[in-house]
Amino acid sequence: MGEAAAKSAIMTALDGRAFRDALGWFATGVTIITTRSAADELVGFTANSFSSVSLDPPLVLFSLNRQAQCLRVFESSAHFAVNVLSAEQTELSSRFATAVHDRWHGVAFTTGEGGCPILEGAVAVFECAVHGMHEGGDHRIFLGQVLRMRAEAEGRPLLFCRGAYRELGPPLGQPAESAAPSSTSALDNGGLLAGLEPWVSA
Ligand SMILES: Cc1cc2nc3c(=O)[nH]c(=O)nc-3n(C[C@H](O)[C@H](O)[C@H](O)COP(=O)(O)O)c2cc1C
Repeated sequence: MGEAAAKSAIMTALDGRAFRDALGWFATGVTIITTRSAADELVGFTANSFSSVSLDPPLVLFSLNRQAQCLRVFESSAHFAVNVLSAEQTELSSRFATAVHDRWHGVAFTTGEGGCPILEGAVAVFECAVHGMHEGGDHRIFLGQVLRMRAEAEGRPLLFCRGAYRELGPPLGQPAESAAPSSTSALDNGGLLAGLEPWVSA
């Protein structure tokens, strides 16, 4: 088999299920990305495509399926908020990933930049101004500049790997007794967001 034929065989193997299964090995955190429409409608969806992009300026991204109900609102909003979920928030994650009558029923939140809902119980929040939108195949890529952030000093982040919710185990290469979550402050970030207005939570 020539090199070109071998390459195309690999591409065929990447189709559909096999591609998703391979991607599933990339363990991620879980976020709910929120915004507010011009008509004051609250919008949010569960996303694990969140990623950091740049330190200076501080940029992050997420990708949103072009078929998503909420796409139109995100495309016309100037701001979004990334709520990084804790291990106690699996139900919220599932709710914001399924078509339910009212995703926001009983959800506790405050209001951030541009009116974006900030979810109570998130371990970290990044409030962003939309910096750019880009085509990404069947998804649309949203780039945001972080304006404000908040991070809990302690907490258990929710993880997602191979189609299942998970939580952190002890750090590798350390004795079990030193495995307690480390205490980090919102500003202990190597200067990542130095100069940004720290968001003091109530
Ligand atoms: C853990 C997890 C991560 C997800 N990540 C994304 C994502 O990054 N982008 C995306 O478009 N959909 C993602 N989804 C699916 C959306 O949350 C789901 O399709 C949602 O209903 C889309 O919003 P809509 O109701 O406005 O269509 C994810 C679902 C789960 C459970």
